[in-house]
Amino acid sequence: MKKVIVMSLVVVLSFAMAATVFAVPAGKTVEFDGKGGGKVVFDGKIHADKGAKCADCHQSGLFKMKKGGDVITMKDMEAGKNCGACHNGTKAFSVKDAASCAKCHKK
Ligand code: HEC
Ligand code: HEC
Ligand code: HEC
Repeated sequence: MKKVIVMSLVVVLSFAMAATVFAVPAGKTVEFDGKGGGKVVFDGKIHADKGAKCADCHQSGLFKMKKGGDVITMKDMEAGKNCGACHNGTKAFSVKDAASCAKCHKK
């Protein structure tokens, strides 16, 4: 009986943790001010819907699991880092493509 209660607590707790931990993918966003390039909104749902898994971004060294945890620059992305690991014209529209700037940067 005691074991059952402990188990249910574990289940409830992991759901509660999932709610916070899944902050980004579960339809939430991370905003970058854009450092002059125009505000960038990263939408976790768009990326989850495209099949991106947590590990693709967070265990591969692309991004820390902390808002503002990474210093992201166009130069680094053009070299294949951060967003540029996918936004390279192969997996997704390229950070180098002048027609795509506005897909990320909003005024
Ligand atoms: C396509 C890439 C991508 C995927 C997939 C992804 N994340 Fe993230 N995540 C990011 C980025 C980018 C940030 C913001 C990092 C920064 O600001 O430097 C972030 C931030 C976070 C944060 C911190 C949020 C905050 O407000 O501080 C958490 C927690 C997180 N992600 C968890 C997850 C989990 C759990 C998954 C899988 C269910 C996941 N992420 C999938 C890119 C991704
Ligand atoms: C995949 C999304 C994405 C695309 C496409 C993109 N950017 Fe960015 N850009 C970012 C992010 C993220 C930052 C970092 C913003 C921050 O930290 O506030 C950034 C930063 C910048 C900055 C700030 C200075 C620097 O060099 O890092 C400028 C200027 C900029 N982008 C211009 C552009 C132009 C011009 C294009 C098109 C040729 C473009 N960006 C395409 C996401 C993108
Ligand atoms: C794991 C690979 C991956 C990473 C890392 C990644 N993206 Fe994406 N992103 C995608 C894919 C795939 C799409 C769908 C692109 C398409 O349909 O061409 C997408 C779509 C988008 C879109 C939607 C554009 C639109 O209006 O349809 C935006 C904006 C975007 N990404 C911004 C970012 C930013 C900003 C970062 C870095 C903080 C980032 N992405 C990192 C794979 C990734």
